[in-house]
Amino acid sequence: MGTRDVAVFVGSLRRDSFNRKMATVLAGLAPDELRLGIVEIGQLPLYNQDDDVAGKVPPAWQALRDRVKAADAVLFVTPEYNRSVPGVLKNAIDVASRPYGQSAFDGKPGAVISVSPGAIGGFGANHHLRQMMVFLNVPMLQQPEAYVGGAASLFDDKGNLTNPATREFLGKFMQAFAAWIERNGKT
Ligand SMILES: Cc1cc2nc3c(=O)[nH]c(=O)nc-3n(C[C@H](O)[C@H](O)[C@H](O)COP(=O)(O)O)c2cc1C
Repeated sequence: MGTRDVAVFVGSLRRDSFNRKMATVLAGLAPDELRLGIVEIGQLPLYNQDDDVAGKVPPAWQALRDRVKAADAVLFVTPEYNRSVPGVLKNAIDVASRPYGQSAFDGKPGAVISVSPGAIGGFGANHHLRQMMVFLNVPMLQQPEAYVGGAASLFDDKGNLTNPATREFLGKFMQAFAAWIERNGKT
């Protein structure tokens, strides 16, 4: 089994984001064959179809498309905003999915972890994200599901995730994702 490059989308730009902390923790818990790299999405211009023509495409859009096309898989680590996906993440997905017929996501295996200080663990964002990925032909890991609630008490002041049961669960999640990538990814 070779190394698999996983493009990680974090749905929050907040400096002390729980989701960004989670993405960093996941990189440490993942099996050795997965190489996780966060894709920066905060600098992307808002998607405007008028600019999606030869000679006008913003360099940041092209860089994102190239990054996702080069990846073996995609992982979304996202908060829930108003029971859905934050706009910053929706914008990045829209950018990488276009031009029509040239989606960078096509056929890449994916997974989602939603993280919230609330009790429902970002269920709404998690499933709205899944809905988009059905359309974009991204086979999404179904089990285990990962709705992580109570995020405000998960991390110590260095960003370590200290709860052993949660660490064990997330380690199993990443193992399942690695197996999912082998089964559904391009060889
Ligand atoms: C515009 C907005 C809408 C939000 N809506 C929800 C929500 O629907 N469900 C939820 O669990 N938390 C909601 N929150 C709270 C976020 O879960 C919280 O700010 C969290 O820390 C964001 O993730 P982060 O720590 O990675 O930035 C919302 C926050 C903002 C700013």
